[in-house]
Amino acid sequence: MLQRKTLILILITYIGLLNGCRQQTSYQGYSSQKVAVSDQAMVVAAHPLAVQAGIEVLEKGGNAVDAAVAIQFALAVVYPRAGNIGGGGFMLYDEIGGKTVALDFREKAPLAANKDMYLDAQGNPIGGLSTKGALAVGVPGSVDGLLLALEKFGKLKDRKLVMKSAIDMARQGFAISSKEAERLNKFADDFKTLNPYDFPFVKEGDWAKGDLLIQTKLAQTLTDIQLKGRDGFYTGACAAAILKTMKTSGGIIEQKDLTQYSSKWKTPIQFDYQGYQVNSMPLPSSGGLVLKQVLKILEPYDLDSLGFQTAESIHLISEAERAAYEVRAKYMGDEDFYDVPTAQLLSDEYIKTLAEGIDLAKASPSQVTPHTHTKTLESFQTTHTSIIDKQGNSLSLTTTLNSNYGSKLYVKEAGFFLNNEMDDFSVKPGVPNTYGLVGAKANEIAPEKRMLSSMTPSIVKKDKKAFLVLGAPGGSTIITAVLQVLLNVIDYKQNIEQAVNSCRTHHQWLPDQITIEKGCLSTEVRNALTAKGHTLKETNYMAIIKAIHRTENGTLTGVGDRRNPDDHAQGL
Ligand code: GLY
Repeated sequence: MLQRKTLILILITYIGLLNGCRQQTSYQGYSSQKVAVSDQAMVVAAHPLAVQAGIEVLEKGGNAVDAAVAIQFALAVVYPRAGNIGGGGFMLYDEIGGKTVALDFREKAPLAANKDMYLDAQGNPIGGLSTKGALAVGVPGSVDGLLLALEKFGKLKDRKLVMKSAIDMARQGFAISSKEAERLNKFADDFKTLNPYDFPFVKEGDWAKGDLLIQTKLAQTLTDIQLKGRDGFYTGACAAAILKTMKTSGGIIEQKDLTQYSSKWKTPIQFDYQGYQVNSMPLPSSGGLVLKQVLKILEPYDLDSLGFQTAESIHLISEAERAAYEVRAKYMGDEDFYDVPTAQLLSDEYIKTLAEGIDLAKASPSQVTPHTHTKTLESFQTTHTSIIDKQGNSLSLTTTLNSNYGSKLYVKEAGFFLNNEMDDFSVKPGVPNTYGLVGAKANEIAPEKRMLSSMTPSIVKKDKKAFLVLGAPGGSTIITAVLQVLLNVIDYKQNIEQAVNSCRTHHQWLPDQITIEKGCLSTEVRNALTAKGHTLKETNYMAIIKAIHRTENGTLTGVGDRRNPDDHAQGL
């Protein structure tokens, strides 16, 4: 009898241990899937473990907003180059039977910021000041925005549920992908210079695929947010840790900046294109405005008969992009601080004048400013999530730290990277930022102002239902990537997988060049474009789209981009 009891006890202990082990290892085996089909619900995001967190919430009865919040907190753990609590972003939400709303939780300039803060005594930009370290940091908006969205539009509104996966993954650790290992090794020197102490992102020797990344401090901060809501981030231990980091690293964010940060609900930019209703992000994102201007310039043309990626069609699209990005550089910024003539910029008359400036035979050179434009489009660090839930609600969410791992400055006692979004301001008229974008007074720095963005979370509707949900990371190339996927589907009748994976081109006024993904366009087309006066510049790849397409009968196809090995699409 005793023997039997002992045996049962041993068995129970063994099963318990096994479960424990299984829990410990559950974030170590995963693979990405680029295409998924479902007639229920769909999620596409930048990492399989984050998508899984969203799917679990949908399975428990959550809606697209509940799932999006779970995914974003999970991305802050498993996709630290861009997923974040130390950054900001934009969300577009289309509630079935309701209206489409936009949420702006973009970072703000600190109260102590001023327009010349990155210039030396001679008025020249001090290299690196707006991109690395404490002065580059804008007041983070992600936690405020995500929790506000959850409270207003979530179905379950349950912080305990939606933050569980993120907290578990931070505490137990997860196996990093080979791409993550590559990035962590690439930025190791910056990490060590800016954070001269032991922290989870630096280890002896190189990182390799499968290494466990454990983020105990981040787990604690996420738990505080789970328990206390926004106060778990903007006050208390986390806020104290941010302020300590600022003090020791020469930053200017103060408690008042954190306490008074607030997200804003906005009306999306809405317009028709070829019978589809496009919804996209308003200022301080330039995404919706530029997208409307370019699409409306192109609408009168029969692109299909001009041909896909012929010299004629690429010339026309590039010239339309050139015109809209010039407007972006000269007039766009945070409307709360600068009187942007938004209505005029969106008007048919104004867009007609832009269209009339296009010469179909030759390139119109962009006006050259005194500053050189040597910046190359190197790395894309924002992150995007597209969701359609079972009820048909759709959500398009783009968040960012700006550069990879943002400012690279880590909040030691709270466990996360801070953004370097201040570089999205125009530090001086005509001086290009990381993306080669120039700006003017409309986007100059002012206390509490939001910096201009290119993030373009979008929802395209047909007959009142989501037809395409899409967006991307990719800095200045986000807008033209969203544009090309729309054109590929609507004008060129490509299926969504082709539309996302087709190679892309990009023009942003300055630098005056068409950027082309490697291997894209035939030699003949390239020569014809050069003959029209264009300068061509190759780059490895540009923005990384995450898209969902709905057919008339309701079938959803989710597509993660071939450009990011970790992109993952999954249906319910
Ligand atoms: N940080 C990139 C953007 O907002 O455009």
